[in-house]
Amino acid sequence: MNSLRCIVIVSALILTSVLSLPAETGAKGWLRYAPVPDGMAARYHGLPDVVISVGNSEVLNSASSELVRGMESMLGKRLRTKQNVAAEDAFVLGSLKDVSGTFEGLNPSRSLDADGFWLRTIERGGKKYWLIIGGGERGTLYGTFAFLSRIAQQQDVNELNDVKSPSAPIRWASQWDNLDGSIERGYAGRSIFFDNGVVRSDLTRAGEYARLLASVGINACAINNVNADPRILSLDFLPQLVRVADAFRPWGVKLALSVDLSSPVAVGGLKTFDPLDRDVAAWWKKKVDEIYQRIPDFAGFVVKADSEGRSGPSQYGRTAADAANVIARALKPHGGVLMYRAFVYNHHLDWRDMKADRAKAAYDYFHPLDGQFEDNVVLQIKYGPIDFQVREPASPLFGAMQHTNEAIELQVTQEYTGQQRHLCFLAPMWKEILDFDMHVNGATPVKEIVEGKTWHRPLGGFNAVVNVGLDENWLAHPLAMANLYAYGRLAWNPDLDTKEISDEWTRLTFGNDPQVVSTISAMLLSSWHIYENYTGPLGLGTLTDILGSHYEPNPDSAEHNGWGQWIRADSQGVGMDRTVATGTGYIGQYSPKVQKEYKTLAACPDELLLFMHHVPYTYVLHSGKTVIQHIYDSHYDGAAEAAGLVSQWELLLGKIDEQRYQKVLQKLQYQAGEAIVWRDTIANWFFKKSGIPDEKDRIARKQ
Ligand code: GCU
Repeated sequence: MNSLRCIVIVSALILTSVLSLPAETGAKGWLRYAPVPDGMAARYHGLPDVVISVGNSEVLNSASSELVRGMESMLGKRLRTKQNVAAEDAFVLGSLKDVSGTFEGLNPSRSLDADGFWLRTIERGGKKYWLIIGGGERGTLYGTFAFLSRIAQQQDVNELNDVKSPSAPIRWASQWDNLDGSIERGYAGRSIFFDNGVVRSDLTRAGEYARLLASVGINACAINNVNADPRILSLDFLPQLVRVADAFRPWGVKLALSVDLSSPVAVGGLKTFDPLDRDVAAWWKKKVDEIYQRIPDFAGFVVKADSEGRSGPSQYGRTAADAANVIARALKPHGGVLMYRAFVYNHHLDWRDMKADRAKAAYDYFHPLDGQFEDNVVLQIKYGPIDFQVREPASPLFGAMQHTNEAIELQVTQEYTGQQRHLCFLAPMWKEILDFDMHVNGATPVKEIVEGKTWHRPLGGFNAVVNVGLDENWLAHPLAMANLYAYGRLAWNPDLDTKEISDEWTRLTFGNDPQVVSTISAMLLSSWHIYENYTGPLGLGTLTDILGSHYEPNPDSAEHNGWGQWIRADSQGVGMDRTVATGTGYIGQYSPKVQKEYKTLAACPDELLLFMHHVPYTYVLHSGKTVIQHIYDSHYDGAAEAAGLVSQWELLLGKIDEQRYQKVLQKLQYQAGEAIVWRDTIANWFFKKSGIPDEKDRIARKQ
């Protein structure tokens, strides 16, 4: 250890013992409402002591009690709640309709979406009012969270006139929870919803989760695995689901469910689940009516069909549109939505067939169905054409469904990106995909397509697999919560800058000390590239064990099987040839302009080269390095950078509470070790394959 580092650590240790910060578990997420330091509190002295709710609803009550809670916690101010506006300074909460009835002449400069809000200060009769106005009740709640967030970030809130609206109506979270309480691809403990085949009796955590989701604008949550257990639709389950919906409702989060297409047979006792069968249609209608009778604000269903062994319409020679529509028609009269997943592919592909390509499956299957879906069906498309890899191109399907509602599916749970044992802040990756221009007709970035703007669709948006668990801090790694926060913020506004998001999250989660903010934010922003470097660079995909855990390095597992995550590595070269001219033809699924970006070696960006092309190991990249040397270097760089994350974190000793400091430190130290395992496994593997030594001689030549 060099002497400077020693001095820093010793002085930080002294500081900690003098000024130790209260221990925190992370359970509060970014809603900590930490006390504003004395020096800063003065700017909030003029805030009122009274909160008035105009109107009456569960969600409005949550908004008002959240304001009370936040103001007391941050400023030590106990707000009095009142029903009517009187001649005293006050916060006023309510919908535009209700509040403008009380204060004449109120007109927001922009139109107010139902979930949008307007923060406005006005003076009337010598008194000052802080209006938190929603387009509807959820908007008021979102506005309240936004107002409190500004104080938590120590921003001035004395003069406000700010309208915000969400980008899209669908801003959902999904949990892959099983009824037995386990969670598919969950890394933070057991389910907060289910245990032992039933809904938990204590749903406190479900309510707290809904509060977290609402604070970043998420408006629905599908609570069970997409590999859905049909029992979720059995009659005796409904009262249990009612309790979950009740726990969500105060936060404006609607309940949604994943359903299995074979449910009419599995729980309905019918002989068929053929979507064109009349009895099947009647069964779905009755089932949906039953649900809405008990849960009038039910959001809808998510369907995974004809995928990875799930039942599907192909069993009856029917299409995805047939399957989606029969359920969508049952949901429509109630305002429900059917999210149909585009993750449909054959997992028994012939790996010897050089034209076979899993990446092409979704487009090939869904493109011909464009225009055949009911208008309350939303096609839910994973961001890339394979499966949540560390790097993939934007799915070509986004550009191919002009007459269909679309949503992008993201993963907060880090299935292929370190499973919350590694730091991997995904917002920069999501942002690259959302900003990617599909060039379908003019500028058509993915974000505008899923927002429904490009083709004027009635619905569209976002759904992310989150998989929080009973772990106290929700996602097990305290820094992984940045992904959930960022997901909500980007779903609300995909134009936000990732640094803005990481700064915000850090301020809310760890405080406003400039060194803390700049260090953690920089760590977050570098972490995806670091992870990509020591796992799968150049578009290879994560190179993990795809047949098992999806965690350890195991490039062999990708090859020679039907799953189609091939990298086609041999002794001469590596990469999937997806060109139209000599390969699988995948690139031909993009618009001509995008095809141009990928089809030639000269144009193709290095980071996706091996996704699009098969090249010799000696091929020279735009960077000037050979492919093989890049693979070696990126793994060594990545492992060194992972170690660097530990040193960066150590500079924060004493600047954040000991409990979270230690927890993150342990995770980062572990990650640094694992990055070495990855580095050595992958570098050795490629050396064995290619026989080409590392220019820097770091890899033992005798294997
Ligand atoms: C991945 C994941 C599965 C999941 C599937 C899906 O393949 O590993 O566990 O069921 O995606 O998205 O449906």
